[in-house]
Amino acid sequence: MLETFESSSVAHMAATTTTGQSAQSIITQKDFADAAIEISSWQGYQITPLYRLDNLARELNLGSVYYKDEGPRFDVGSFKALGAAYAGLRVLQRQISKRLGKNIPLADLHGAQYAEQISDVMLVAATDGNHGRSLAWGAGTFGAPCKIYIHKHVSQNRAAAIAQFGAQVVRVDGDYDHSVNICREEADKNGWFVVSDTSWEGYTQPPKDVMAGYGIMANEIDQQLDEPPTHIFIQGGVGGLAAALAARLKQIYQSRSPRVIIVEPELAPCLFESARNGCATNVEITRETQMAGLSCGEPSILAWRILGEEVRDFLTIPETLVAPAVRLLARPFGDDPTIVAGESAIAGLAGLIAAALQPELKDKLALGEDSKIQLIGSEGATDQAIYDEIING
Ligand SMILES: Cc1ncc(COP(=O)(O)O)c(C=O)c1O
Repeated sequence: MLETFESSSVAHMAATTTTGQSAQSIITQKDFADAAIEISSWQGYQITPLYRLDNLARELNLGSVYYKDEGPRFDVGSFKALGAAYAGLRVLQRQISKRLGKNIPLADLHGAQYAEQISDVMLVAATDGNHGRSLAWGAGTFGAPCKIYIHKHVSQNRAAAIAQFGAQVVRVDGDYDHSVNICREEADKNGWFVVSDTSWEGYTQPPKDVMAGYGIMANEIDQQLDEPPTHIFIQGGVGGLAAALAARLKQIYQSRSPRVIIVEPELAPCLFESARNGCATNVEITRETQMAGLSCGEPSILAWRILGEEVRDFLTIPETLVAPAVRLLARPFGDDPTIVAGESAIAGLAGLIAAALQPELKDKLALGEDSKIQLIGSEGATDQAIYDEIING
């Protein structure tokens, strides 16, 4: 069952970190707390499950492996529900406060009081699926119009999942990074509001709010575990997820915070290359990875500021590990729980298994019998047809 992982070509970059306070200062404890208070008040909020994969841990000679399953997160099917919807609400708050010349509390945006003003603020985003779905869901819930830009590789099912919340879906040519640029241009031209999960020079507030929302996962992990994990293997797209967790876990656990290992597809290694160069670095995507949510060529500059200080280990994994990792969760060892995970959710797991089975890498990452590994299962089956194909393939 694990042979593919044992023989796979996994690259490791040992980065030189810079020192700084980014984990405390970019998203402050208050930013994280404000987001957590707001999001946990939403209808349908529930702590997502944290599963123990004891049999897998035994197979790998590790102390324990925990998998936090974000599949059931609200109606959205991924951790992204925590980010875009919250950042969209913050945009509405800032805009309506500005237009009315007074500070409107978030709580007041949930009632009918400002419905007319909200219906006049167009929220837009580019997405490879999950971020746009979350923004569409949030906009639909709060009553704001929404337009989502998708690129040509986004599956039809993912487009439909966005449209079901009432957002207009605009398909453009090119890849994810291209759709981000088109979305920005159109928003500038039309006075719309971009709610992006990635940041660039001069655009940082919504991505910061997105990351503040993601922090709730770290709070939940702290509640669900008796002691801090020693390692967290986490998949990277633009880096927002990893940066938010690295920062929030550092704030919670301080010197006992886990070693963060970022895992990317070898077809989209923008964080790996940033680590090699010691600065945010773009890469060209020449072939799309099956891990659609991780197909990003440009790191978020805000995320990179945190990752450049907090993360020493970056892995890339080949495409050949995607299906075996998804299947391993669907048909687990012994009585480990059966978990439904989408193709972008398993990069951390795949990186962990490969690293644990390759002695040199295992050593470099200090993985052993005392290790307590945290994984983030960042999505469920967000495209059922793709999931079925993987499982039955
Ligand atoms: C399921 C899933 N996991 C992980 C990621 C990576 O998150 P980030 O782009 O913030 O690094 C994404 C991004 O879209 C995703 O959809």
